[in-house]
Amino acid sequence: MNRGTRQVVLVTGGAGYIGAHTAKALYERGHQPVVYDNLSSGFREAVRWGPFVHGDIRDRARLTDAIDAHGVTAVIHFAGLIEVGRSVARPDLFWDVNVGGTAGVLEAMRARNVPRLVFSSSAAVYGQSGRDALAPIREADPKAPSSPYGDTKLAGERLIEAHCRAFGLSAVALRYFNAAGADPSGGIGEAHEPETHLIPLAIAAGLGAGSPLTLFGDDFDTPDGTCLRDYIHVCDLAAAHVAALEAPLPAGGFEAVNVGTGHGRSVREVIQAVDRALGRPTPHAVGPRRAGDPPSLVADPSRARSVLGWTATRPSLEEIVGDAVRWERHPAYGAGPRAFRAPRVADAAE
Ligand SMILES: NC(=O)c1ccc[n+]([C@@H]2O[C@H](COP(=O)([O-])OP(=O)(O)OC[C@H]3O[C@@H](n4cnc5c(N)ncnc54)[C@H](O)[C@@H]3O)[C@@H](O)[C@H]2O)c1
Repeated sequence: MNRGTRQVVLVTGGAGYIGAHTAKALYERGHQPVVYDNLSSGFREAVRWGPFVHGDIRDRARLTDAIDAHGVTAVIHFAGLIEVGRSVARPDLFWDVNVGGTAGVLEAMRARNVPRLVFSSSAAVYGQSGRDALAPIREADPKAPSSPYGDTKLAGERLIEAHCRAFGLSAVALRYFNAAGADPSGGIGEAHEPETHLIPLAIAAGLGAGSPLTLFGDDFDTPDGTCLRDYIHVCDLAAAHVAALEAPLPAGGFEAVNVGTGHGRSVREVIQAVDRALGRPTPHAVGPRRAGDPPSLVADPSRARSVLGWTATRPSLEEIVGDAVRWERHPAYGAGPRAFRAPRVADAAE
């Protein structure tokens, strides 16, 4: 796929958090995004840079019709279920949507000879054993997910890789670390329901609603005892998808690439950044560790540089938190001021 060739890109899950930011980045790069989403957790108001198709990724006929109707030449596949905790309670649903849905997307692409796919994978595919727990994670490190959610992402990668080998598809699986922040325009942002991510929940607590944030564990083997995570600005993540779409790959080529900054930030550092952004202390309490929470999940981003020519341009926690606060104060969609409806827990895993 030649850089600079205008693509018509089907963005599954494009009404969601990362999908909406990527649709904007595609449009600004001269591509035409076509959002395909069942709005189960996404927002119609977030679809602003091209046509919208209301559909489920498990509906192969509707996917194929959308490809025909818009002359789709590539797919970026975000649609899926994302909550780690919920995947433990409903593994059936997660395998059906995340793996069955991915099979549906692949089948529709094959039926219409759409040659390029970019897939939303996750750092949740990596295991803890067999590597230095605090070292940056490389793509070749052992894969041993600690949740059904992680299992479905690894299975999705393997299914896509098999399609590349068998049918000549070229694909990139992007293993995201912790997506955070919002577009500086303030028009789109994170509106998960329920919200499980640390930064929006810390901001909600800091905005003065209800009980304090719960921080899971401060006795990890890390510099300040709290978990380290690699927060990637959602606009950088969106840019990584455009780079993966345009990267020169042979027919049948498959790449799995980490998307992170390479910098680990502790839960305490995040809370302190929110304190500074809001100009007051964020109420929080320390709770016990949660099962399956690794002490550190930080990317080695060197392959993203070599394979995609991409690096994070907004690595500062200040900028990520600042953009998130701007959104949280005036969310353009979602159920309004988060502090009055979000569960008051911090989830450091994803
Ligand atoms: N947010 C993160 O930190 C993070 C980290 C790693 C990986 N991911 C992956 O990135 C992708 C996007 O995550 P997000 O945070 O933007 O989530 P999100 O919930 O905001 O977006 C997901 C979108 O998919 C749509 N969707 C869900 N099931 C569907 C189905 N069956 N058919 C059609 N549409 C469907 C939803 O309506 C929603 O708009 C997901 O696959 C997620 O697993 C996210």
